[in-house]
Amino acid sequence: MLLPVLFLSFLSFASATPRPLVLWHGLGDSATSKGMLEFAQEIRGVHPGIFIHSVYLDEDLDKDRRAGFYGNVNEQVEAAAEQISAIPELADGFNALGFSQGGQFLRAYVERFNSPPVHNLITFGSQHTGVSDVGVCGPRDLLCQIARRATKAGVYSPWAQENLVQAQYFRDPANLAAYYAANHFLTSINNELVDSRNTTYARNLASLNTLVLIKFTEERTVVPAESSWFGSEIVEDDVAYGSQHVLESGRTMLSMREQPLYQEDWIGLRELDERGGIEFLECKGQHMQIGDCWEDIVRQYAS
Ligand SMILES: *[C@@H]1O[C@H](CO)[C@@H](O)[C@H](O)[C@H]1NC(C)=O
Repeated sequence: MLLPVLFLSFLSFASATPRPLVLWHGLGDSATSKGMLEFAQEIRGVHPGIFIHSVYLDEDLDKDRRAGFYGNVNEQVEAAAEQISAIPELADGFNALGFSQGGQFLRAYVERFNSPPVHNLITFGSQHTGVSDVGVCGPRDLLCQIARRATKAGVYSPWAQENLVQAQYFRDPANLAAYYAANHFLTSINNELVDSRNTTYARNLASLNTLVLIKFTEERTVVPAESSWFGSEIVEDDVAYGSQHVLESGRTMLSMREQPLYQEDWIGLRELDERGGIEFLECKGQHMQIGDCWEDIVRQYAS
């Protein structure tokens, strides 16, 4: 009789210990900003004892913030993977939560590295299929304004694609040929180029327990907002798709399931979806106005 009791109490102990959590901050933020530290603290309120690591590209707060605008994303993801793999508390796997661009960067980690493996991947307002405009900056945010201007000016130039973070997920459906030719990040993690599709990416993404995609109801920074749910635009006449919602601009929005990326399962999304592994959630508000929308999500998926 003793053994089952011990076994049960072990089980309840195990389920009470939350998996470690890795955070990747959004654009304009840094790993150890006041906001990120407060968020980590609030998570600890929900999951006492949880181990949390906030990904940084530079230990200096200002330089880390700058790395959100300037740098080579492929190198940044590789550096993050190295950092993560060196943390003993993460060695048995972890949940990951990305804010805005941090979400697609964590997805790149899953597809390319995933060692140690991610259990649930939670992304808030991320740009999974890119953006076709560069979001509006705050009036006093010079760093953002300079990056925005430079990004819009020569978004597909080799320099921009090496050095401007936002350029590396800029995908204008009206100019896909230039995007395919120039882009080395988003084309890669979405396995868009038929000659360099990597089946490891698909296998790793499909190995997630749950992919939680959160879109903001009043999103104006991410264009199109549906990018957070893996929706993407096509320009009318480009491809003959069925009954999709036609946007004012003459562009047509395709949901995740209406795209070749999903239908031909280039990155494992379909496999994941067909076993019920993708959650589409909404938070009320404009980009990253999370309010208390995070709490139930963290309670359920970051445990
Ligand atoms: C596919 O991705 C894996 C993981 O990043 C990498 O090790 C491998 O070299 C890639 N394969 C090709 C053909 O590029």
